Amino acid sequence: MNITVVGTGYVGLVTGACFAEMGNSVTCVDTDESKVHQLMDGNIPIYEPGLEAIVRENNKAGRLLFNTSLPQAMQQSALYFIAVGTPPGENGSADLTYVLNVAREIGRNLQDYAIIVNKSTVPVGTACKVRAAIQSELDARGVEIEFDVVSNPEFLKEGAAIDDFMRPDRIIIGVDSERAREKMADLYHSFSRNHDKLMFMGIRDAELTKYAANAMLATKISFMNEVANLAERMGVDIENVRKGIGSDSRIGYSFIYPGCGYGGSCFPKDVQALIHMGDEFSFDTSILRAVEERNQAQKQRLFEKLEQRFGPDMSGRVVGVWGLAFKPGTDDMREASSISLINRLVAAGATVRAYDPIAMDEARRWFAPELFERGQIVFCDHQYDALADADAMVLVTEWKPFRQPDFNAMKKLLKHPIIIDGRNQYDPYALKAQGFDYAGIGRDLG
Ligand SMILES: NC(=O)c1ccc[n+]([C@@H]2O[C@H](COP(=O)([O-])OP(=O)(O)OC[C@H]3O[C@@H](n4cnc5c(N)ncnc54)[C@H](O)[C@@H]3O)[C@@H](O)[C@H]2O)c1
Repeated sequence: MNITVVGTGYVGLVTGACFAEMGNSVTCVDTDESKVHQLMDGNIPIYEPGLEAIVRENNKAGRLLFNTSLPQAMQQSALYFIAVGTPPGENGSADLTYVLNVAREIGRNLQDYAIIVNKSTVPVGTACKVRAAIQSELDARGVEIEFDVVSNPEFLKEGAAIDDFMRPDRIIIGVDSERAREKMADLYHSFSRNHDKLMFMGIRDAELTKYAANAMLATKISFMNEVANLAERMGVDIENVRKGIGSDSRIGYSFIYPGCGYGGSCFPKDVQALIHMGDEFSFDTSILRAVEERNQAQKQRLFEKLEQRFGPDMSGRVVGVWGLAFKPGTDDMREASSISLINRLVAAGATVRAYDPIAMDEARRWFAPELFERGQIVFCDHQYDALADADAMVLVTEWKPFRQPDFNAMKKLLKHPIIIDGRNQYDPYALKAQGFDYAGIGRDLG
Protein backbone atom coordinates (compact mmCIF):
# COMPACT_ATOMS: atom_id res chain seq x y z
CA MET A 1 0.00 0.00 0.00
CA ASN A 2 1.12 3.59 -0.57
CA ILE A 3 0.69 5.73 2.50
CA THR A 4 1.33 9.36 3.44
CA VAL A 5 1.87 10.22 7.10
CA VAL A 6 1.66 13.90 8.00
CA GLY A 7 3.73 14.86 11.07
CA THR A 8 6.98 13.14 11.98
CA GLY A 9 6.80 13.40 15.77
CA TYR A 10 6.65 10.49 18.21
CA VAL A 11 3.46 9.15 16.64
CA GLY A 12 3.91 10.02 12.96
CA LEU A 13 7.45 8.75 12.65
CA VAL A 14 6.70 5.51 14.48
CA THR A 15 3.52 4.98 12.42
CA GLY A 16 5.35 5.62 9.15
CA ALA A 17 8.32 3.46 10.09
CA CYS A 18 6.15 0.54 11.23
CA PHE A 19 3.93 0.61 8.14
CA ALA A 20 7.10 0.64 6.00
CA GLU A 21 8.53 -2.24 8.03
CA MET A 22 5.48 -4.29 6.98
CA GLY A 23 6.31 -3.69 3.32
CA ASN A 24 4.24 -0.60 2.59
CA SER A 25 5.61 2.44 0.76
CA VAL A 26 5.40 5.40 3.10
CA THR A 27 6.17 9.08 2.73
CA CYS A 28 6.40 11.02 5.98
CA VAL A 29 5.74 14.73 5.64
CA ASP A 30 6.62 17.49 8.08
CA THR A 31 6.60 21.27 7.78
CA ASP A 32 9.70 21.40 9.99
CA GLU A 33 12.40 21.45 7.32
CA SER A 34 15.27 20.80 9.69
CA LYS A 35 13.51 17.67 11.01
CA VAL A 36 12.93 16.39 7.49
CA HIS A 37 16.53 17.02 6.45
CA GLN A 38 17.79 15.28 9.56
CA LEU A 39 15.61 12.29 8.70
CA MET A 40 16.78 12.29 5.09
CA ASP A 41 20.35 12.12 6.43
CA GLY A 42 19.42 9.09 8.54
CA ASN A 43 19.31 10.98 11.85
CA ILE A 44 16.36 10.63 14.20
CA PRO A 45 15.25 13.88 15.84
CA ILE A 46 13.70 12.10 18.86
CA TYR A 47 14.88 9.35 21.20
CA GLU A 48 12.77 6.21 20.91
CA PRO A 49 14.38 2.80 21.44
CA GLY A 50 14.59 0.75 18.22
CA LEU A 51 13.27 3.52 15.98
CA GLU A 52 16.55 4.53 14.39
CA ALA A 53 17.27 1.07 13.02
CA ILE A 54 13.81 0.67 11.48
CA VAL A 55 13.88 4.15 9.95
CA ARG A 56 17.35 3.63 8.44
CA GLU A 57 16.63 0.15 7.07
CA ASN A 58 13.35 1.11 5.47
CA ASN A 59 14.75 4.34 4.11
CA LYS A 60 17.63 2.40 2.56
CA ALA A 61 15.15 -0.07 1.06
CA GLY A 62 13.25 2.86 -0.47
CA ARG A 63 10.05 2.11 1.47
CA LEU A 64 10.27 5.12 3.80
CA LEU A 65 10.77 8.57 2.32
CA PHE A 66 10.61 12.05 3.79
CA ASN A 67 9.28 15.23 2.30
CA THR A 68 8.35 18.77 3.32
CA SER A 69 5.70 19.00 0.61
CA LEU A 70 2.34 17.39 1.29
CA PRO A 71 1.04 17.97 -2.26
CA GLN A 72 4.05 16.08 -3.64
CA ALA A 73 3.58 13.20 -1.21
CA MET A 74 -0.16 13.07 -1.93
CA GLN A 75 0.50 12.24 -5.58
CA GLN A 76 1.94 8.87 -4.54
CA SER A 77 -0.95 7.64 -2.38
CA ALA A 78 -4.63 7.77 -1.51
CA LEU A 79 -4.31 7.06 2.21
CA TYR A 80 -3.34 10.03 4.36
CA PHE A 81 -2.66 9.77 8.10
CA ILE A 82 -2.81 12.99 10.09
CA ALA A 83 -0.40 12.66 13.03
CA VAL A 84 0.34 16.28 13.91
CA GLY A 85 0.26 17.74 17.40
CA THR A 86 -2.94 18.71 19.23
CA PRO A 87 -1.48 20.79 22.08
CA PRO A 88 -3.65 22.28 24.81
CA GLY A 89 -5.24 25.59 23.90
CA GLU A 90 -5.53 28.41 26.42
CA ASN A 91 -8.76 27.10 27.97
CA GLY A 92 -7.54 23.48 28.08
CA SER A 93 -9.34 22.47 24.88
CA ALA A 94 -7.34 20.59 22.23
CA ASP A 95 -5.90 23.06 19.72
CA LEU A 96 -6.93 21.77 16.29
CA THR A 97 -5.01 24.38 14.28
CA TYR A 98 -2.45 21.89 12.96
CA VAL A 99 -4.98 19.17 12.19
CA LEU A 100 -7.27 21.55 10.29
CA ASN A 101 -4.33 23.13 8.43
CA VAL A 102 -3.48 19.67 7.13
CA ALA A 103 -7.14 18.99 6.24
CA ARG A 104 -7.33 22.22 4.23
CA GLU A 105 -4.10 21.45 2.43
CA ILE A 106 -5.43 18.01 1.55
CA GLY A 107 -8.61 19.65 0.21
CA ARG A 108 -6.59 22.04 -1.94
CA ASN A 109 -4.63 19.19 -3.51
CA LEU A 110 -6.94 16.19 -3.61
CA GLN A 111 -7.27 14.74 -7.12
CA ASP A 112 -8.98 11.38 -6.59
CA TYR A 113 -10.81 9.37 -3.93
CA ALA A 114 -8.74 9.17 -0.75
CA ILE A 115 -9.08 8.15 2.87
CA ILE A 116 -8.00 10.66 5.50
CA VAL A 117 -7.20 9.05 8.85
CA ASN A 118 -7.06 11.05 12.07
CA LYS A 119 -4.32 9.48 14.16
CA SER A 120 -3.80 12.56 16.30
CA THR A 121 -5.76 12.57 19.56
CA VAL A 122 -8.72 14.78 18.75
CA PRO A 123 -11.99 15.70 20.50
CA VAL A 124 -15.30 14.12 19.63
CA GLY A 125 -16.60 15.79 16.48
CA THR A 126 -13.20 16.50 14.92
CA ALA A 127 -13.65 14.07 12.03
CA CYS A 128 -16.68 16.17 11.08
CA LYS A 129 -14.56 19.33 11.17
CA VAL A 130 -11.84 17.67 9.07
CA ARG A 131 -14.46 16.58 6.55
CA ALA A 132 -15.93 20.09 6.41
CA ALA A 133 -12.50 21.69 5.99
CA ILE A 134 -11.65 19.40 3.07
CA GLN A 135 -15.09 19.83 1.50
CA SER A 136 -14.93 23.63 1.66
CA GLU A 137 -11.61 23.58 -0.24
CA LEU A 138 -13.10 21.23 -2.84
CA ASP A 139 -16.10 23.55 -3.16
CA ALA A 140 -13.78 26.53 -3.59
CA ARG A 141 -12.04 24.64 -6.37
CA GLY A 142 -15.42 23.76 -7.90
CA VAL A 143 -14.60 20.05 -8.00
CA GLU A 144 -16.45 16.98 -6.77
CA ILE A 145 -14.17 14.33 -5.36
CA GLU A 146 -15.22 11.58 -2.98
CA PHE A 147 -13.28 11.02 0.22
CA ASP A 148 -13.71 9.33 3.60
CA VAL A 149 -12.54 10.43 7.02
CA VAL A 150 -11.60 7.77 9.56
CA SER A 151 -10.67 7.97 13.24
CA ASN A 152 -7.78 5.71 14.23
CA PRO A 153 -6.43 6.95 17.58
CA GLU A 154 -2.98 5.81 18.63
CA PHE A 155 -2.25 4.09 21.95
CA LEU A 156 1.54 3.69 21.79
CA LYS A 157 3.67 4.54 24.81
CA GLU A 158 6.83 6.57 24.36
CA GLY A 159 9.80 4.38 25.30
CA ALA A 160 8.03 1.25 23.96
CA ALA A 161 6.44 2.79 20.88
CA ILE A 162 7.68 0.33 18.25
CA ASP A 163 6.59 -2.69 20.23
CA ASP A 164 3.22 -1.13 21.03
CA PHE A 165 2.62 -0.31 17.39
CA MET A 166 3.76 -3.69 16.10
CA ARG A 167 1.92 -5.67 18.79
CA PRO A 168 -1.01 -3.50 19.85
CA ASP A 169 -3.57 -4.55 22.48
CA ARG A 170 -6.24 -3.30 20.10
CA ILE A 171 -6.62 -1.22 16.97
CA ILE A 172 -9.54 1.17 17.21
CA ILE A 173 -11.08 2.28 13.95
CA GLY A 174 -14.01 4.66 13.77
CA VAL A 175 -15.47 4.52 10.30
CA ASP A 176 -18.73 5.22 8.51
CA SER A 177 -18.05 3.86 5.02
CA GLU A 178 -17.65 0.26 3.88
CA ARG A 179 -14.96 1.27 1.37
CA ALA A 180 -12.79 2.84 4.07
CA ARG A 181 -13.48 -0.02 6.48
CA GLU A 182 -12.17 -2.59 3.98
CA LYS A 183 -9.04 -0.57 3.30
CA MET A 184 -8.27 -0.14 7.01
CA ALA A 185 -8.88 -3.85 7.67
CA ASP A 186 -6.43 -4.65 4.86
CA LEU A 187 -3.81 -2.27 6.15
CA TYR A 188 -3.93 -3.49 9.74
CA HIS A 189 -4.32 -7.18 8.95
CA SER A 190 -0.60 -7.86 9.44
CA PHE A 191 -0.61 -6.16 12.88
CA SER A 192 -3.52 -8.26 14.06
CA ARG A 193 -2.64 -11.81 13.05
CA ASN A 194 -2.72 -13.79 16.29
CA HIS A 195 -6.24 -12.78 17.16
CA ASP A 196 -8.49 -10.12 15.85
CA LYS A 197 -7.42 -6.89 17.42
CA LEU A 198 -9.34 -4.70 15.04
CA MET A 199 -12.31 -2.99 16.65
CA PHE A 200 -14.57 -1.11 14.30
CA MET A 201 -16.98 1.43 15.75
CA GLY A 202 -18.57 4.79 15.05
CA ILE A 203 -16.22 7.69 14.43
CA ARG A 204 -17.28 9.61 17.53
CA ASP A 205 -17.03 6.42 19.62
CA ALA A 206 -13.40 6.01 18.51
CA GLU A 207 -12.61 9.65 19.28
CA LEU A 208 -13.93 9.34 22.82
CA THR A 209 -12.29 5.93 23.38
CA LYS A 210 -8.83 7.50 23.19
CA TYR A 211 -9.63 10.19 25.78
CA ALA A 212 -11.39 7.71 28.06
CA ALA A 213 -8.34 5.41 28.01
CA ASN A 214 -5.89 8.16 28.96
CA ALA A 215 -8.26 9.66 31.51
CA MET A 216 -8.72 6.26 33.18
CA LEU A 217 -4.95 5.73 33.46
CA ALA A 218 -4.45 9.26 34.81
CA THR A 219 -7.26 8.64 37.30
CA LYS A 220 -5.56 5.50 38.63
CA ILE A 221 -2.34 7.45 39.15
CA SER A 222 -3.97 10.43 40.85
CA PHE A 223 -6.07 8.16 43.04
CA MET A 224 -2.97 6.32 44.20
CA ASN A 225 -1.11 9.58 44.80
CA GLU A 226 -3.98 10.78 46.94
CA VAL A 227 -3.96 7.62 49.04
CA ALA A 228 -0.15 7.85 49.30
CA ASN A 229 -0.33 11.39 50.66
CA LEU A 230 -2.88 10.21 53.20
CA ALA A 231 -0.70 7.21 54.08
CA GLU A 232 2.18 9.59 54.84
CA ARG A 233 0.12 11.40 57.43
CA MET A 234 -1.01 8.09 58.95
CA GLY A 235 2.44 6.53 59.18
CA VAL A 236 1.38 3.83 56.71
CA ASP A 237 3.75 2.38 54.09
CA ILE A 238 1.99 2.84 50.74
CA GLU A 239 4.18 0.16 49.16
CA ASN A 240 2.40 -2.49 51.22
CA VAL A 241 -0.95 -0.98 50.35
CA ARG A 242 -0.03 -0.98 46.64
CA LYS A 243 0.81 -4.66 46.69
CA GLY A 244 -2.24 -5.40 48.81
CA ILE A 245 -4.67 -3.86 46.36
CA GLY A 246 -2.79 -4.69 43.15
CA SER A 247 -3.18 -8.38 43.88
CA ASP A 248 -6.93 -7.94 43.54
CA SER A 249 -7.53 -8.96 39.94
CA ARG A 250 -10.31 -6.39 39.67
CA ILE A 251 -7.74 -3.65 40.39
CA GLY A 252 -4.45 -4.97 39.00
CA TYR A 253 -0.90 -3.72 39.48
CA SER A 254 -0.54 -1.36 36.55
CA PHE A 255 -0.72 2.41 36.96
CA ILE A 256 -1.02 2.32 40.75
CA TYR A 257 2.54 3.39 41.49
CA PRO A 258 2.54 6.55 43.59
CA GLY A 259 4.97 9.22 42.46
CA CYS A 260 5.63 12.88 41.86
CA GLY A 261 2.87 13.33 39.29
CA TYR A 262 2.27 12.28 35.72
CA GLY A 263 3.59 14.32 32.81
CA GLY A 264 4.20 13.82 29.12
CA SER A 265 2.49 15.04 26.03
CA CYS A 266 -0.71 13.06 26.57
CA PHE A 267 -2.20 12.57 30.04
CA PRO A 268 -2.19 16.20 31.20
CA LYS A 269 -3.51 17.64 27.95
CA ASP A 270 -5.99 14.84 27.30
CA VAL A 271 -7.53 15.04 30.77
CA GLN A 272 -7.85 18.81 30.35
CA ALA A 273 -9.36 18.41 26.89
CA LEU A 274 -11.93 15.91 28.19
CA ILE A 275 -12.87 18.31 30.99
CA HIS A 276 -13.35 20.96 28.33
CA MET A 277 -15.49 18.61 26.23
CA GLY A 278 -17.63 18.08 29.34
CA ASP A 279 -18.07 21.86 29.65
CA GLU A 280 -19.11 22.08 26.01
CA PHE A 281 -21.78 19.48 26.64
CA SER A 282 -22.82 21.23 29.90
CA PHE A 283 -21.59 18.30 31.95
CA ASP A 284 -19.37 18.68 35.00
CA THR A 285 -16.61 16.08 34.81
CA SER A 286 -15.95 16.32 38.54
CA ILE A 287 -13.77 13.20 38.74
CA LEU A 288 -11.50 14.47 35.98
CA ARG A 289 -11.18 17.89 37.62
CA ALA A 290 -10.04 16.19 40.80
CA VAL A 291 -7.56 14.01 38.85
CA GLU A 292 -6.04 17.11 37.28
CA GLU A 293 -5.97 19.04 40.56
CA ARG A 294 -4.32 16.17 42.42
CA ASN A 295 -1.68 15.91 39.72
CA GLN A 296 -0.84 19.61 39.87
CA ALA A 297 -0.47 19.34 43.64
CA GLN A 298 1.54 16.12 43.38
CA LYS A 299 4.13 17.83 41.22
CA GLN A 300 4.86 20.11 44.20
CA ARG A 301 5.47 17.26 46.66
CA LEU A 302 9.20 16.89 46.06
CA PHE A 303 9.80 20.58 46.64
CA GLU A 304 7.62 20.49 49.75
CA LYS A 305 9.68 17.62 51.16
CA LEU A 306 12.85 19.64 50.65
CA GLU A 307 11.18 22.71 52.12
CA GLN A 308 10.34 20.72 55.26
CA ARG A 309 14.05 20.12 55.69
CA PHE A 310 15.59 23.41 54.54
CA GLY A 311 12.82 25.99 55.02
CA PRO A 312 11.52 28.30 52.27
CA ASP A 313 14.81 30.15 51.70
CA MET A 314 17.18 27.76 50.00
CA SER A 315 19.92 30.26 49.16
CA GLY A 316 23.25 28.48 49.22
CA ARG A 317 21.63 25.04 49.05
CA VAL A 318 22.60 22.63 46.30
CA VAL A 319 20.16 19.95 45.18
CA GLY A 320 21.22 17.00 43.01
CA VAL A 321 18.46 15.84 40.66
CA TRP A 322 18.45 12.44 38.95
CA GLY A 323 16.19 12.29 35.91
CA LEU A 324 14.63 15.06 33.82
CA ALA A 325 12.48 13.30 31.19
CA PHE A 326 8.81 12.85 32.09
CA LYS A 327 9.43 9.10 32.29
CA PRO A 328 12.28 6.67 31.54
CA GLY A 329 12.90 5.59 27.94
CA THR A 330 12.20 8.94 26.31
CA ASP A 331 13.73 12.38 25.89
CA ASP A 332 10.27 13.97 26.01
CA MET A 333 10.18 16.81 28.54
CA ARG A 334 6.59 17.93 28.01
CA GLU A 335 4.92 18.47 31.41
CA ALA A 336 7.80 16.67 33.16
CA SER A 337 7.71 16.84 36.96
CA SER A 338 11.36 17.89 36.90
CA ILE A 339 10.34 21.25 35.40
CA SER A 340 8.14 22.33 38.31
CA LEU A 341 10.65 21.03 40.86
CA ILE A 342 13.69 22.73 39.35
CA ASN A 343 11.92 26.03 38.73
CA ARG A 344 10.72 26.14 42.33
CA LEU A 345 14.17 25.26 43.64
CA VAL A 346 15.90 28.05 41.73
CA ALA A 347 13.13 30.48 42.69
CA ALA A 348 13.86 29.58 46.34
CA GLY A 349 17.55 30.38 45.78
CA ALA A 350 18.93 26.85 45.43
CA THR A 351 21.41 25.64 42.86
CA VAL A 352 20.39 22.53 40.93
CA ARG A 353 22.86 19.96 39.66
CA ALA A 354 21.00 17.57 37.36
CA TYR A 355 21.70 14.48 35.29
CA ASP A 356 19.59 12.52 32.82
CA PRO A 357 20.98 9.74 30.61
CA ILE A 358 19.08 10.87 27.48
CA ALA A 359 17.04 14.03 27.93
CA MET A 360 19.64 16.71 28.80
CA ASP A 361 19.86 18.21 25.30
CA GLU A 362 16.10 18.43 25.10
CA ALA A 363 15.81 19.62 28.72
CA ARG A 364 18.10 22.59 28.08
CA ARG A 365 15.31 24.15 25.99
CA TRP A 366 12.83 23.97 28.88
CA PHE A 367 14.60 26.28 31.31
CA ALA A 368 15.50 29.97 31.00
CA PRO A 369 19.01 30.26 29.46
CA GLU A 370 20.12 32.72 32.16
CA LEU A 371 19.66 29.99 34.80
CA PHE A 372 22.46 28.04 33.09
CA GLU A 373 24.54 31.20 32.50
CA ARG A 374 24.31 32.17 36.19
CA GLY A 375 25.12 28.60 37.23
CA GLN A 376 21.78 28.12 39.02
CA ILE A 377 21.20 25.02 36.91
CA VAL A 378 24.14 22.80 36.04
CA PHE A 379 23.73 19.71 33.85
CA CYS A 380 26.32 17.10 34.79
CA ASP A 381 28.04 14.44 32.68
CA HIS A 382 27.54 11.67 35.20
CA GLN A 383 24.85 10.80 37.71
CA TYR A 384 27.28 10.97 40.63
CA ASP A 385 28.66 14.37 39.54
CA ALA A 386 25.20 15.74 40.19
CA LEU A 387 25.59 14.88 43.88
CA ALA A 388 28.94 16.55 44.53
CA ASP A 389 28.53 18.72 47.64
CA ALA A 390 24.76 18.61 47.30
CA ASP A 391 22.56 19.10 50.37
CA ALA A 392 20.10 16.51 49.08
CA MET A 393 19.47 14.13 46.22
CA VAL A 394 16.08 13.93 44.49
CA LEU A 395 15.08 11.07 42.20
CA VAL A 396 12.58 12.33 39.63
CA THR A 397 12.76 9.83 36.73
CA GLU A 398 13.36 6.15 37.43
CA TRP A 399 15.88 5.38 34.69
CA LYS A 400 17.44 1.93 35.17
CA PRO A 401 20.94 3.16 36.16
CA PHE A 402 19.33 4.99 39.10
CA ARG A 403 17.65 1.93 40.51
CA GLN A 404 20.58 0.26 42.24
CA PRO A 405 23.08 3.04 42.81
CA ASP A 406 26.17 2.93 45.01
CA PHE A 407 24.73 4.34 48.23
CA ASN A 408 28.14 4.42 49.91
CA ALA A 409 29.48 6.63 47.16
CA MET A 410 26.37 8.79 47.37
CA LYS A 411 26.78 9.25 51.09
CA LYS A 412 30.36 10.38 50.63
CA LEU A 413 29.43 12.84 47.90
CA LEU A 414 26.41 14.41 49.59
CA LYS A 415 26.92 17.13 52.16
CA HIS A 416 23.80 15.88 53.96
CA PRO A 417 22.62 12.29 53.44
CA ILE A 418 19.13 13.24 52.29
CA ILE A 419 17.34 11.22 49.59
CA ILE A 420 13.95 12.32 48.30
CA ASP A 421 12.64 9.47 46.18
CA GLY A 422 9.92 10.69 43.81
CA ARG A 423 9.33 7.22 42.37
CA ASN A 424 9.61 4.94 45.43
CA GLN A 425 12.59 3.13 43.99
CA TYR A 426 14.59 2.61 47.18
CA ASP A 427 14.11 0.66 50.38
CA PRO A 428 13.41 3.17 53.17
CA TYR A 429 14.38 0.72 55.91
CA ALA A 430 17.77 -0.13 54.34
CA LEU A 431 18.54 3.52 53.68
CA LYS A 432 17.60 4.55 57.19
CA ALA A 433 19.85 1.81 58.52
CA GLN A 434 22.66 3.31 56.43
CA GLY A 435 22.07 6.71 58.00
CA PHE A 436 20.12 8.38 55.23
CA ASP A 437 17.24 10.78 55.81
CA TYR A 438 14.87 9.18 53.29
CA ALA A 439 11.46 10.29 52.05
CA GLY A 440 9.47 8.54 49.37
CA ILE A 441 5.91 9.18 48.25
CA GLY A 442 3.65 7.70 50.89
CA ARG A 443 6.71 6.24 52.57
CA ASP A 444 7.78 8.83 55.16
CA LEU A 445 8.18 6.27 57.87
CA GLY A 446 9.43 8.49 60.63
N1 LIG B 1 3.48 11.15 21.99
C1 LIG B 1 2.71 10.14 22.37
O1 LIG B 1 3.09 9.31 23.19
C2 LIG B 1 1.32 10.00 21.79
C3 LIG B 1 0.65 8.77 21.95
C4 LIG B 1 -0.63 8.64 21.40
C5 LIG B 1 -1.21 9.71 20.74
N2 LIG B 1 -0.54 10.89 20.62
C6 LIG B 1 -1.18 11.98 19.87
O2 LIG B 1 -0.62 12.01 18.56
C7 LIG B 1 -0.53 13.37 18.10
C8 LIG B 1 0.91 13.69 17.72
O3 LIG B 1 1.69 13.61 18.90
P1 LIG B 1 3.30 13.64 18.86
O4 LIG B 1 3.76 13.44 20.25
O5 LIG B 1 3.77 12.75 17.77
O6 LIG B 1 3.52 15.17 18.41
P2 LIG B 1 4.89 15.90 18.06
O7 LIG B 1 4.72 17.28 18.56
O8 LIG B 1 6.05 15.08 18.52
O9 LIG B 1 4.91 15.92 16.46
C9 LIG B 1 4.01 16.61 15.67
C10 LIG B 1 4.70 16.91 14.34
O10 LIG B 1 3.76 17.47 13.43
C11 LIG B 1 4.42 18.42 12.62
N3 LIG B 1 3.44 19.29 11.98
C12 LIG B 1 2.67 20.28 12.50
N4 LIG B 1 1.89 20.84 11.54
C13 LIG B 1 2.17 20.19 10.39
C14 LIG B 1 1.68 20.30 9.05
N5 LIG B 1 0.75 21.19 8.71
N6 LIG B 1 2.19 19.47 8.13
C15 LIG B 1 3.14 18.56 8.44
N7 LIG B 1 3.64 18.41 9.69
C16 LIG B 1 3.15 19.22 10.64
C17 LIG B 1 5.33 19.14 13.61
O11 LIG B 1 6.36 19.84 12.95
C18 LIG B 1 5.83 17.95 14.46
O12 LIG B 1 7.03 17.42 13.92
C19 LIG B 1 -1.10 14.23 19.22
O13 LIG B 1 -2.46 14.45 18.98
C20 LIG B 1 -0.93 13.36 20.45
O14 LIG B 1 -1.87 13.65 21.45
C21 LIG B 1 0.71 11.05 21.11
